Amino acid sequence: MLKLGIIGTNWITEQFVNAAHETGKWQLTSVYSRTLDKAHQFGDKFASTSEFFDNLDDFFDQGSFDTVYIASPNSLHFEQCKQAILAGKDVVVEKPACSNPFEMKALIQLLRQHPDTFLFEAARHVHEPNFRAVAKAVESLNVVQGATLTYAKYSSRYDQVLAGKEPNIFSPDFSGGCVQDLGVYLVYDAIVWFGMPSSVDYHATILETGVDGKGIAVLHYPDFDVTLNLAKNVNSYLPGEIYGLKETIRMDHSGDLNKVVLDDGNGHQKDLSVKQADNPMVAEANEFADVLNDKDSNDAKQLEEDWLAYAVQVNKVLYQLRQSANIKFKADKVAKEVEEENNES
Ligand SMILES: NC(=O)c1ccc[n+]([C@@H]2O[C@H](COP(=O)([O-])OP(=O)(O)OC[C@H]3O[C@@H](n4cnc5c(N)ncnc54)[C@H](OP(=O)(O)O)[C@@H]3O)[C@@H](O)[C@H]2O)c1
Repeated sequence: MLKLGIIGTNWITEQFVNAAHETGKWQLTSVYSRTLDKAHQFGDKFASTSEFFDNLDDFFDQGSFDTVYIASPNSLHFEQCKQAILAGKDVVVEKPACSNPFEMKALIQLLRQHPDTFLFEAARHVHEPNFRAVAKAVESLNVVQGATLTYAKYSSRYDQVLAGKEPNIFSPDFSGGCVQDLGVYLVYDAIVWFGMPSSVDYHATILETGVDGKGIAVLHYPDFDVTLNLAKNVNSYLPGEIYGLKETIRMDHSGDLNKVVLDDGNGHQKDLSVKQADNPMVAEANEFADVLNDKDSNDAKQLEEDWLAYAVQVNKVLYQLRQSANIKFKADKVAKEVEEENNES
């Protein structure tokens, strides 16, 4: 049984711990929160929890867990991942793993120095069967002529923005905003299904806080474009579509894929959907556990590296999209300065 420690006590962590327990391969043992009260409030719901920390150094030094699941605000992921790797803990870090390519590069370098420590970006949908059903259907097309993908969901925290506040997920100090949040799902879709785009544009609606509330991104490929429609301040119910010649691959949702249909353009539809677990994090929890339980094999290392390679590409495209819309994070400045210092020394 893999022993799990967690950072961040919001609902997403509970969903991940439930998913991890559902696989029968993990057990939550250790909880970090900024307050011991909250650590207990979270951890006491699970009988397996025995360690509670409100100090991050103690959590990593004394915690008996093998793997940490990091679900803190985006801007904290990088330092917490580094600390975990240096403590010899495997890492499942929520998307987006890093704020920018400077952080990503440093993280990959650190992982190379610690090849026995594994890190996964928790891009949950990529591990689900319906995501792979789309990938297979794309491969079966003779030609791809484009795609339109949507992830637009009103965030309850947008109410706070309207009230003049700056919640983490809408804050440039915490590497928030729409493209850095829901955009991750759509950029993963595009990169895994079609490869790296040759260039990108992002037409964003910038909020008072300085990050994007919604926007239309276009990923340009040599022979077609992929349009991403994303928002955290409106709800959209548009399905996702990928265009072949006459064929269309239709999915009920581009980030939460439950129904995938191949329409041949001649009146025939083939349902490609696979029944998935109700908890959308079960697939990733399962696959990460399988890799970690088989750590010494070449296959396991290869899978981790393949997933990391996607994470690096997604990180790069997210940064390009932000640059296109002139969206700047505090973490960009910090990381750039550190890189410049390292180059000088
Ligand atoms: N995969 C998915 O489906 C999915 C869904 C939602 C979110 N996420 C990801 O999960 C991560 C967390 O998102 P969230 O919306 O839960 O974030 P959040 O509410 O802003 O923060 C998450 C946790 O981090 C701690 N925290 C909050 N503010 C902090 C601060 N200023 N300094 C240090 N710690 C702080 C809190 O835990 P304590 O009070 O216990 O310290 C909090 O519960 C993000 O990376 C997000 O992208 C993924």
